[in-house]
Amino acid sequence: MSLVSKGKSSINMRIRDLENVLRHRRIPYPKRSVEFIALIAISCTLFLFLHTKNLNSRLKEMEVKLQPSEFSALGLTGDNHIDESKHHHDRNTLHGTYQYLKSTGQLDYLDRSSLNNTPQAEKSLIFFNRVAKVGSESLMELIDELGKLHEFEVYTNEPKSKNRVTLPDDEQKDLAEAINELNEFSVYIEHVNHINFTKFDMPRPIYINLVRDPVERVISWFFYVRGSYSNAIKYQKFPNMPLKPEKWFKKDFNHCVRTGDPECVYEQLSTGGGGDYRRQSHFFCGHDKDCLPFNSKTAIQIAKKVVEKDYAVVGSWEDTNVTLTVLEKYIPRFFKGAHVLYNIHKDRIVNQNKNRRKPKIYDDVKAMIRKNFTEEIDFYHFCKQRLYKQYIALKLDDIRATGAFSKK
Ligand SMILES: *[C@@H]1O[C@H](CO)[C@@H](O)[C@H](O)[C@H]1NC(C)=O
Ligand SMILES: *[C@@H]1O[C@H](CO)[C@@H](O)[C@H](O)[C@H]1NC(C)=O
Ligand SMILES: *[C@@H]1O[C@H](CO)[C@@H](O)[C@H](O)[C@H]1NC(C)=O
Repeated sequence: MSLVSKGKSSINMRIRDLENVLRHRRIPYPKRSVEFIALIAISCTLFLFLHTKNLNSRLKEMEVKLQPSEFSALGLTGDNHIDESKHHHDRNTLHGTYQYLKSTGQLDYLDRSSLNNTPQAEKSLIFFNRVAKVGSESLMELIDELGKLHEFEVYTNEPKSKNRVTLPDDEQKDLAEAINELNEFSVYIEHVNHINFTKFDMPRPIYINLVRDPVERVISWFFYVRGSYSNAIKYQKFPNMPLKPEKWFKKDFNHCVRTGDPECVYEQLSTGGGGDYRRQSHFFCGHDKDCLPFNSKTAIQIAKKVVEKDYAVVGSWEDTNVTLTVLEKYIPRFFKGAHVLYNIHKDRIVNQNKNRRKPKIYDDVKAMIRKNFTEEIDFYHFCKQRLYKQYIALKLDDIRATGAFSKK
């Protein structure tokens, strides 16, 4: 088993580049200007003081109308159309999760330590067994940048013509051993199902991953395998692979689903699936044969347990800010500065592996698929709610620490 580093040689040079950039941004102020600025500041203060009195009384009037909820005080939303009277909260949004926790009295008992698996890791090594078609290449790009900043190494497997996510026990063990031999303070990234290091008597890494709406994922896969990017890469690496017929490239997704074309049938409990990674849960459930039947309750139960027990963070690009904040706070050694680097390299990160050729998929078609993905959708919501809880717990910590939030 050999793992390859993603660009060690250039690391030190790139850190120097970054330092130069930072140095150039620091603009020296001459002494005179400092005095000048101080003078302006004093004038402004005086000006503001005079106006504050006036503003204060006007604010009092407005306060009666506005009544900001505790939620907006947490900085969790920009949404002004919150229907507080609604009893059914959509828990699949950050706001809904907050409202749910609040209305059920769970908010006061939200315990960050039980949501944080990082301290249980026995090694400072990240295992990012990236789910296919969730934007993991974007996170890889960001991790590469973070690696230059914090000086950790990023590893992956050597490219193979066919990537297998399910491995027999002995191969899991080999892979775990190879990962275990990497430097402490490394990141391993690959499309592979969750590996239980404890089972092989090896120190437990920090597990991370991403999820995405399961229906959007399979649609994305359909166009990805037909895209020029994925095909160019594949044939460059493996020129002897047979080319698909033109008809296959031109297949229409809506038609494919509506006519029951085998490629677009998501049969319940089926163990096949044309290699389209339709089971997002599979990456979490693991290598057991119980994990394979599509949309099975058993597989989803196992996957949820593994997320809860092992994963430090399961984020989503559908909630970029929440995900970056949770990564930064729960795994600071690797992710500190993630927001800053994301903003600097945003264009490159966002466009990583993005497919621009994605024709319209009709609502009835999506609804047909959605009906067959019930358990997968349940798992996806479970991961999102956990992510929101982690975020809310952080915000509550912040607010309690500054005393701005008082427990009733
Ligand atoms: C949904 O599942 C049923 C039962 O397995 C199957 O007959 C049907 O073709 C599936 N529909 C889609 C759109 O995958
Ligand atoms: C990993 O394996 C150990 C030992 O077999 C077991 O106790 C633990 O529950 C497993 N972890 C998960 C997340 O299943
Ligand atoms: C994310 O946070 C940045 C500032 O940190 C803000 O400018 C941006 O609007 C936020 N995005 C969303 C979708 O909330």
